[in-house]
Amino acid sequence: MRDNFLPYNQPDIDEEEVQAVADAIRSQWITRAGITAQFESDLSSYLDGAPVMALSSCTAGMHLALLAAGIGPGDEVITTPYTFAASVNVIIHAGAKPVLVDIDPETGNIDPNRIEDRIGPKTKAILPVHYAGHPVDLDAINQLRDQHHLLVIEDAAHGIASTYHGRKIGTHGNITAFSFYATKNLTTGEGGAVVVPDPEMADKVRMLSLHGMSRNAWNRYEEKGSWFYSIELPGFKYNMTDIQAAMGRVQLKKLPRMQARRQMLAQHLTRGLEGLPVTTPQERADVEHAWHLYPLRVNLEEINGDRGDIINDLKALNIGTSVHFIPIHLHPYYQKALGLKPGDFPLAEAFYQREISLPLYPTMTERDADDVLEALSVSLSRRMR
Ligand SMILES: Cc1ncc(COP(=O)(O)O)c(C=O)c1O
Repeated sequence: MRDNFLPYNQPDIDEEEVQAVADAIRSQWITRAGITAQFESDLSSYLDGAPVMALSSCTAGMHLALLAAGIGPGDEVITTPYTFAASVNVIIHAGAKPVLVDIDPETGNIDPNRIEDRIGPKTKAILPVHYAGHPVDLDAINQLRDQHHLLVIEDAAHGIASTYHGRKIGTHGNITAFSFYATKNLTTGEGGAVVVPDPEMADKVRMLSLHGMSRNAWNRYEEKGSWFYSIELPGFKYNMTDIQAAMGRVQLKKLPRMQARRQMLAQHLTRGLEGLPVTTPQERADVEHAWHLYPLRVNLEEINGDRGDIINDLKALNIGTSVHFIPIHLHPYYQKALGLKPGDFPLAEAFYQREISLPLYPTMTERDADDVLEALSVSLSRRMR
């Protein structure tokens, strides 16, 4: 057994990121300037030419997309209960109402077959989440988009490395927001980016991200810049900084190697879990899972105790884990504000009660993964019915 704690997540940062950040600081252009523009250009190349803006977070990207689309009071946006608060909070911040639709019990993603019933005259958009990095069924969602003239805003916080039908997430014609938060597959500490295919909407998002200042006002301190700016909209302070972008450029270069390790480790875990009373995450045909998370589900029918007991056993054996997610309808705020209650989304709840996110990150060794497997085996065999 391990004598040191294996955290559930750790970023893969080495000297190259440290050097790039130091160079950015020494350049004196520490906030949004040239390096952020270069990072945007790198991201756009990575996303096969998709127009992309680097921002302070994925949350910022989704919030601005909703505002730029004119979605607000009186409107409804369909999303999933199986997500982080951010996906729902942005809808509330825009003044619209989140309408939740239960999940596909295998992937944890919103079930497109259940969406149509909830589309009404107030529905303006669908905000699906690529849970854990497994793409949602975009063909089905895009069909609903076209049939009902809706906007789709993809929450790809976990999906910078996911592909659907051979093409990267972010290149399927929808607004798509990525997260570069500390735990994500590509990190800038805090940060995010948003793809906005419509040029007019993209201009609005850009403006809203920097106080609502007129185009190009961000370079007003440069030699070629001008002191003049005008405020066109009441905007926000959602820009990325060059310090973050410097790190992001290195991380993007490393992404294929980091993904290869995530994929290898995920396969290693899945093979090693065979025969245990658990359900391993699947990768559907014609998609690439980004393996941001490894969401294991415990077969509660086969053990004594609950998911929390397994987490405690693993902790005692020096293995860190997490749980993704506590469904939206189980949080007190959303219960009060949206009139939700336990039992409203039984599939999301069943997933939650069984889910444990195992450690999975590029700097983990196969030995670390073996320790996770051994600890799980000890815990589960002790508790088998
Ligand atoms: C599904 C999902 N959406 C959105 C976010 C928010 O990302 P950010 O912290 O970059 O705003 C997260 C963050 O963990 C997330 O898991």
